[in-house]
Amino acid sequence: MTVHNGPGRYVLFGHPVSHSWSPFIHGMFARQFDHVVDYKLQDVPPGDFRHAVINFFVEGGGGANVTLPHKPAAAEIVNDLSARAERARSVNTIVRRSATELYGENTDGVGLVTDLMRNLGVTLTGSRLLILGAGGATRGVLAPLLEQEPREVRIANRTPERARRISEEFSDLGEISASGFSEVDDRPWDIVINATAASIAGEVPELPPRTIGRDTVCYDMAYGRGDTAFMRWATERGSARACKGWGMLVEQAAESYLLWHGVRPATKSVMTALERL
Ligand code: ATR
Repeated sequence: MTVHNGPGRYVLFGHPVSHSWSPFIHGMFARQFDHVVDYKLQDVPPGDFRHAVINFFVEGGGGANVTLPHKPAAAEIVNDLSARAERARSVNTIVRRSATELYGENTDGVGLVTDLMRNLGVTLTGSRLLILGAGGATRGVLAPLLEQEPREVRIANRTPERARRISEEFSDLGEISASGFSEVDDRPWDIVINATAASIAGEVPELPPRTIGRDTVCYDMAYGRGDTAFMRWATERGSARACKGWGMLVEQAAESYLLWHGVRPATKSVMTALERL
């Protein structure tokens, strides 16, 4: 695909969006290259999203990030989708190819895989991977995770039927099983990824007692200051490796930056800065 080195105006569409760290992250990335990048937040209710995107690009916007709840709608608006975004039916990065041609990509999964493998030194290939949740967050990361060829993938969800539907949709990409939380094999998994919205409400999934071992990597896709409810829960259950999604946030942003500007920023210093906040 063509990388568009267009005007320096970028935006994150979300609802709500004021909590986002993306302007800070993209600002730090831009400084690495002496780029002048204007990255703003725009809170748009779902009914106004299409209009806001079209307006932004008609007025010369260079690229957009998209967060909840607009990721599926963004996949419907763009003219062309990456295979990954098409399968996820979810777009978090819009690239302007021309004034009338928008390309949609989803960098969430690559961001997660990069954080796990490169930053945290986790081996996905051959691993037993348990994913909690069957909403858009899971859909967005599943294909890049499966590309690493884990030995076994289980999707567990409060509503098991949703987990079953996702596992069927992605079954051509690897071995995936589905269940409710309580039916998960009661022995330590290598990696447990929390992709539910439960942590945000301070709730944790009701998994059998031995699913988390000392060496189980417990990764919460949610993030914020301090430990998340899922991290605290995983630590209480004996995991020595409970992490939150800061790294995924920064790595997905670096992938967006690469798509827009043709260069991939270094991420370590940005992560360190976020941890200090
Ligand atoms: P999105 O598609 O935006 O990610 P979603 O479709 O509402 O949002 O999915 C959120 C995920 O978090 C779902 O897996 C949801 O479980 P259900 O499919 O059973 O609704 C899960 N979730 C939300 N709150 C939860 C809670 N308190 N405990 C466990 N799972 C929860």
